[in-house]
Parts: sequence; structure tokens; C-alpha cells
Amino acid sequence: MDGRDLVHSVKAVGFAGAAQGLRTVRAAWRRRRADATGLPRRGAERARVPGQVQEVTPGLGGGVLRFTRSELRIIVTVSGAVFWGWDGAGPEPSYALAGRCPEPDPRAVLEPDKDGGWRVVAERVTVVVSRNGAVEVRTPGGVTLRRDLPPRWWEPVGGGRARWMQRSEVSADARFFGLGGRSSGPRLRDGTYRLWNTDQGRAFAPGDDPLYITMPVQLVVADAGTHLVFHDTSWDGTVALREGEEGAGSGHDRAGMCEMRMDGGPLRCWVIVGTPARVLHAWASLTGAPALPPAWALGHHHARWGFGSEQEVRRIITGYREHGLPLDAVHLDIDHYDAHQVFTVDRERFPKLPALAEELRRDGIRLVSIVDAGVKAEPGNEVYDSGTAHDAFVRDASGQPVRGVVWPGEVVYPDFTHARVRKWWGGLYEERLAQGFSGFWHDMNEPTSFAAFGEPTLPRSARHDLEGRGGDHREAHNVYALCMARAGYEALRELAPRQRPFLFSRSGWAGMQRYGGTWSGDVATGWPGLRASLSLVMGLGLCGVPYSGPDVGGFDGSPSPELYLRWFQLGAYLPLFRTHASLRAGRREPWEFGAEVLEHARVALVERRRLLPYFLTLAHLARRTGAPYVRPVWWGSPEDRALRDCEDAFLLGDCLLVAPVLDPGADRRAVQLPRGLWYDTATEEAYEGPAQVLVDAPLSRIPVLARAGAVIPTRGTDGGLELEVWAPARGRTGAGLVVPDAGDGWEEPEIERYVTRWEGSRVVVEREGGGEPPHPVRVRGLGER
Ligand code: GLC
Repeated sequence: MDGRDLVHSVKAVGFAGAAQGLRTVRAAWRRRRADATGLPRRGAERARVPGQVQEVTPGLGGGVLRFTRSELRIIVTVSGAVFWGWDGAGPEPSYALAGRCPEPDPRAVLEPDKDGGWRVVAERVTVVVSRNGAVEVRTPGGVTLRRDLPPRWWEPVGGGRARWMQRSEVSADARFFGLGGRSSGPRLRDGTYRLWNTDQGRAFAPGDDPLYITMPVQLVVADAGTHLVFHDTSWDGTVALREGEEGAGSGHDRAGMCEMRMDGGPLRCWVIVGTPARVLHAWASLTGAPALPPAWALGHHHARWGFGSEQEVRRIITGYREHGLPLDAVHLDIDHYDAHQVFTVDRERFPKLPALAEELRRDGIRLVSIVDAGVKAEPGNEVYDSGTAHDAFVRDASGQPVRGVVWPGEVVYPDFTHARVRKWWGGLYEERLAQGFSGFWHDMNEPTSFAAFGEPTLPRSARHDLEGRGGDHREAHNVYALCMARAGYEALRELAPRQRPFLFSRSGWAGMQRYGGTWSGDVATGWPGLRASLSLVMGLGLCGVPYSGPDVGGFDGSPSPELYLRWFQLGAYLPLFRTHASLRAGRREPWEFGAEVLEHARVALVERRRLLPYFLTLAHLARRTGAPYVRPVWWGSPEDRALRDCEDAFLLGDCLLVAPVLDPGADRRAVQLPRGLWYDTATEEAYEGPAQVLVDAPLSRIPVLARAGAVIPTRGTDGGLELEVWAPARGRTGAGLVVPDAGDGWEEPEIERYVTRWEGSRVVVEREGGGEPPHPVRVRGLGER
């Protein structure tokens, strides 16, 4: 038992007493025993490399290269993404792909290259394979973006699953991003990152790794270009990264390095080359368009573990109203369940949930329910009995249901990798809808089982259906929450077909955006936690998951008023804007931190509400183009190295640059501006980028800059749409998009496009193609320059 394990059991004991502590010890022993008998021993292994190329068979979009000891299949697809797989691996089946593999691009042909190698030349990328199996990705101009050395496998002498290692080089100036939600990013510095979704069992801070969402998705940004690489395998593994170094005239460049080691699964990957926008677009067309949240989910959410009763929920809502604070959703945590059992209600403390939900809805507030993955293992509990009758629960190698420990005590786990089980589970959401819930918060689905020692999850030997292929937890673990999200999403589409589902999940994997978003989990209260929470949102956005946000104020402990406020001000500009904390932590209502904080928090909330039409437009754009709402400042100019290294500010769509305050005591901060003219939205002072500028950041606000020429949809004082236009630079024009609110159903609103330009001393705004905008217009940034 190491320190971390101890923390785990202490957390479990702390929250639920000694009995729970004992259970975690028993569960850990069970896990160890199950794996000792249920996992095959790995005897002697033999190492293998591909050998020399022997034979080549061109095919549509590429072809197959046969090496002495492996074969490589390459397919350039019409979506612009390139697939390659070793040892005969094809793109399907895949948990990441949204549908079938895209069609091959018939224009891409496999042809001989120099030195006995081969290449596939496509419109946006050239893939060159050396005669001993190194694979290079080059831009159409011939610059190398990535060079994979020949892979290496280790397989049992008697045959069976191979472990593998893939070492790759990138240019000396390249920066790595992605790998899911990482606390110490968004730039991923030298280190080893594990691919195994994990609840750390305590609030996390920068450096804690891995967390709830890991993904073998890397976005690599270099002078020569941007590429995304996705290794489509869900097994446990590690990615070791080392940034390169430039010789700076006195020596050679040292390439950046990435070494991926996986315990199993096919060695197959997808590569997408282009601008960041193009890469994310192609990634979304491959793995699925991000689900569009209903408009209310873009407002402010308040959650608390421990509301404890309907009266308390009402009291908090009254507090919001009386303090003039806009509120859009309230989240009920596990304490509203009967004995923490999912899909039940504690009727003593929440006797009339549907009436409460109805009352709230009349005030424009929705109820969101937590849904944990584990089911209390107790005969007589309806969900357990029904799951047992449906043979829904994960079993161990001996055929016994696997038991773990979560909040309700001993639990069993639905096998979400089974279509029949997903259907059964999905049916349970009917009870939640009947209680009046409008949204769902999936939790403890890494899946977590508190453990006094060892890993806090299911035994690796636990059996899973894996869509009929059969396998064990080593392969199913990382996609467990993805499949749970699928179960929830598909059920909601059937049960409430006229509403867009709202679902967000603590854990997940590549493609999870098809079903919903996520949040940053149990982030530690403290300034480092604030920074980590921004890192997660940016990193996940670059992996294709655009909707997320932190628990404002942090999950544990009590933030200082200043920290709470700075977190609140950041949260107001992130897609999911939610206040939440642990049962044991201090309160997170804005009036708990004194009059000054309350006043400034109100300003942030009112501004968030004013920007709702902009958030909705960004949500639509994310769905249509894959572009995250929150983008790194280098999004439009990845070749700008100063921007590439900037991690403490972000672009909110095309129009705004948000520079949160991440340090105590600050009342000014430096901001790295991309090219162009930018206005401080508070003072209307204009700055010319690229440059580093110093701007005011008083306690009352964080710096937000608007791009000159931006047309931003906002909510006017009468609740209608209003266009906020920032004067273009003299002699230049501007433009903007508006996707109007068409309700929370499936209607596809028409995109409105606007242009703006100077006409003499006036700034005019028109619909693209001519015509007055049908909304009031407010022009800003007209001051003398
Ligand atoms: C987990 C979740 C947290 C929730 C708690 C109780 O720690 O991450 O958000 O409040 O469980 O359900």
C-alpha cells in the first residue's frame, strides 16, 4: 500500500465510515486474487520488427506493403485523414469512429520512392514508407512533420497478444498537446503520460496524472505545420514525450520525441494534417460532431454535494434570485438518492421532486441529475434485481459478477460494452425524466472502485462483451465511460425525442463528444488547481471535446474570496460554467464570500447571460466544424512561437481573447496578442498585435479583448438579440456569424452572416450580400486612436 493508496482508503473511510474502509480492503484483495487466477501468465516473449519490404499491393487510397514479419495497410480517405495499420489491422471495428471508415480517396496512389521505399501522395499529405518500415508524414511541400521509426512488438513465444512500442520524431520546434484531459498542460512538457482513465481518489492539482479522461490523441504544432495523430487502441499504455531543442547556430537540432508503449491492441493510427481548424474539422468528421447542448446548458449551473433536502434547494435558488444572480441549472448529487443508489429517490428528503422540477422550470431553471455507474449489490434493490435478470453486470473470469466499492457500498458494474446492456440501462433514464430532470451528469465511470491498495478500478481480468468480440477489462477500461455515455444519449433520444439530450461525463475516450461533454472532475482548491482547470478545458478541446469546465472554486477545501472570484470569472467564459464542491468543502454560493466578491460575481454572471447568444453560436459552430469554443491563442497562427507557448489565455471563438487571472494579488497582467487590432472590452483601449501588452485586471474583472471587426451576438436588455460590433481597423473590414436560438429541439437554424466596414467616419454593419441587420446594432471601439 503506497501513500496514494492510503489516501484512497482514507477518503472512502472518511466519507462512509469504517465499514466502507473494510470493504475497500476486501475489494482490493478480491481484485488481486481475480487477476492472479483470471489473467493468463505472460511467459517468454520474442521481439519483432517489420523486417524488409517484400511485396506491395496498391489499393484504393493507398495499398498494402508486406514486410518480412508484418504488413502495413495505408488508406488515404476522402475526409483527408490518413489511416495506417500494422499486422493487417484495418480501421474497424473502432470505438472512436462515428460510423464506418470514410471512403478511400481514389486519387491517392501508392508509388515507388527512393532507396526501395514507397510513398502515397495525397492532396494534403504525403506518406513515405522506408523499406524497413519507417513511416514519414510530410506536407505537400515535402517538409517532414512526423517520422515513425519501425515499430517493435513483443509477443509470447507460443503466440498471442503482442505488446508494442512506437517511437516517433517531430521537428525540434514542435509542441505537443492533447492526450485527453491533462492537469499540467495544455502544452505537454517532457514526461510520461499514462493512457488509463483514473480517479486519483482525491482532488488533483497540476502534475497529477493520469486523470479521468485519457486518449491516445496528440496534436502536434510546429513551424512546418500542425498534425493530429490518433492511435486507435484502448489498451493501457504510456506516451513518453520529449520536446526537441534547436541548435541555435551552435549545434544540431535535436528532434522532439514521442515513444508510445502499449500493452496490446492493434498498432494502427490516423493522421490528419493541416491548419488547426482543418485538423479539428476532419477529426470531428471522423469521430463525430460534438453534441449540441440545449441553450440553458450554456448558462450558469450550481451544484452541491449535500443540498440534503428540497427546502435547501429552494433556499439556494431564492438566494440566487434575491441577490440578482442569474441561474439556469441546479445539479443534484448522490445525496438525493436513496442510500446513494442510482435511479432511486430519497423520498423523505426529496418527497416531491417532479413538483420541484416543474416549479424551477417555470423560473427558467433546469434540474440535472448525477448518474453513477455502479449499482448497489443488494437483492431487493430494483435496479440490481432488474440488472441481474438482464444479465447486465460485468463478471470475472470464473463467471461471478465483479464487485467493487463506491458510494453506496458494494456495487456491481453494468457492462456498457454490450448493446443489450446499454439498452437496459438506457431504459432506466425514464425514471429520471419522470422525476423532472433535464440533464445528466455521469460519474464514477472510469470505472472507479475505491481500493485500499492497488488500482481503484475493476480487475483487469474482468470479462466484457466488447460488442460481441469478447475481451477483458484491459481493453474495455478506457472505453467504459464512452459506452455509458452512448447508452444514456441513445436512450434520451428515444425517451425524449424532441429535446436535445444534455449529458456530461467525468470519464470518456476519443469520440465522447458525440454524446456530450465533460467537466474537470475533482480539481484541488488552490491557485495551481485553477490553472489545472484551464489546462483541462483547452487540452480536451484539442482532442475534439469542446464542452467542459471546472468546478468553480475547486472541489475540496475553502477557497479564499479572491481565489473563488478569479475562478468564477474564468468559469464565466468557459462552455460549462458550474459551481460545485465536495460534501466536506466550504460553500460555493457567490454570497458566501463577502459583499465585494458578490458584486463582482454578479457582474460575471450578468456578462455570461449577455454573451449567451455568442456561446450558442459557438456551440453550433463546434458541431458543424469541430472547432472548440475555447481555443489556444495560436489557433489562427500556429507558426507564431510566442503564442504557441502561451498557456494562460485563450480565444473564445474568433471574436474574444480571455486572459484570466491565475495568480494571487494580481491587478495587471501580460497578454500575448495574436496579429491584428484588439480592444480591451472594459476600457475600449486598442492594442496592435502581435505583441505582448500589459492590461489592467482589477478584482472586478478579468481582461477580455475583442478582435477589431468582430460581430458578436449578445442578449440585449429586452432579452432580444443584439449585435455588438467592434470597429474594424481603419481601411479594414470585419465579419461575424450568428446562429440564432431555435429552441432546444432539432430545428436547424439558418446561419446569419454579417460584414462590417468603415464608411467615412461611420462603421456600417450589413448582412453579407447586402441588407440591414434585423437586430439592433451597437458599435464599440470608436474612440480616438
Ligand atoms: C465524485 C465526483 C464529484 C461528486 C462526488 C459525489 O467525487 O467527481 O463531482 O460530487 O463524486 O457524488
